[in-house]
Amino acid sequence: LGRVVTCVAPVNIAVVKYWGKTNEDLIIPLNDSISLTLSTEHLRARTTIKTIPQSNDITFELNGVTEKLTKRLSRAIQLCREEAVRQNTATQEVVSAGLTIISDNNFPTAAGLASSAAGFACLVCALQHLYGIQGDVSAIVRQGSGSACRSVFGGFVRWAKGHREDGNDSIARQLFPASHWPELRVLIVVVSDHKKETSSTKGMQTTVETSDLLKFRTEVVVPKRCEDMERAIEKRDFPSFAELTMRDSNQFHATCLDTYPPIFYLNSTSQEILMLCHDYNQKKGAATVAYSFDAGANAFLFTLNKSVPEICGLLQARFGVTDFKGDPVSDFCLHEEH
Ligand code: DP6
Repeated sequence: LGRVVTCVAPVNIAVVKYWGKTNEDLIIPLNDSISLTLSTEHLRARTTIKTIPQSNDITFELNGVTEKLTKRLSRAIQLCREEAVRQNTATQEVVSAGLTIISDNNFPTAAGLASSAAGFACLVCALQHLYGIQGDVSAIVRQGSGSACRSVFGGFVRWAKGHREDGNDSIARQLFPASHWPELRVLIVVVSDHKKETSSTKGMQTTVETSDLLKFRTEVVVPKRCEDMERAIEKRDFPSFAELTMRDSNQFHATCLDTYPPIFYLNSTSQEILMLCHDYNQKKGAATVAYSFDAGANAFLFTLNKSVPEICGLLQARFGVTDFKGDPVSDFCLHEEH
């Protein structure tokens, strides 16, 4: 008989960013990264998987459109099947059955809003439940899309680059639950919902091949920054957290500019938002808001609960935006929906 599982997965936003791999196939990163997991109220991926016992076809539908099965998708399925057989949680008959995979995001796909992160985390979660796989699946999720492995956990998460050549110790772990810092808020300012021009995968590959700055970033800057970031979060020290977050976003975009030919993810609106944050912090005499940009023009703003109304007012006056999505960090992590 066919089985059906539905999972929901959150987006995560890196405050110390991942950019560059040592192994393209296994997706082993050049440096550790640290992220915050958001609630699934505004941004989430949802995946339903059905097994089709009489077939071995796999079909994949994303936001209502039938898509080709990518290499990474097939690989994630293959890894889950192997793990289920290894753990003896599913029979050969179950793991060789065909699959119908139906996914959707409640936000623009591939616009730099971490949709692939939520998407892969969600897919592996659904397969995990379908096949009864036990234990940490972040190493499997990582091989679908690197940043996705951080969406396996809620709260504040660190993904270690690890030391092993097979990547088995390149896994995510929770640093602190969301309840550690409940006043922290993330505002998502959607500047553009267009598909980004250079995918993260391709972009970071070119950066690794051509940027001199990346070596300095991954070897010298990031190891210390990860320790400083952990300490800032531990102490709930917002000014330090904010400065480290902004510096890391800026340096990531600087390595993009140092790529040859250069990659630009920020547009003039992103730059205006960035300067607005610096002006506001200067007026306040301390870092009160921080920005972070991924491989796209959209801004993620971090602030404490008490400053949200003022910052929203500022954005409204400047850009006329009225629709804000203000999320707390969330303990929600992958789960099965019933
Ligand atoms: C800028 O995880 O999308 O968002 O591993 O090739 O799938 P692949 O790349 P991806 O890269 C995300 C890059 C980033 C920074 C981050 O989330 O750490």
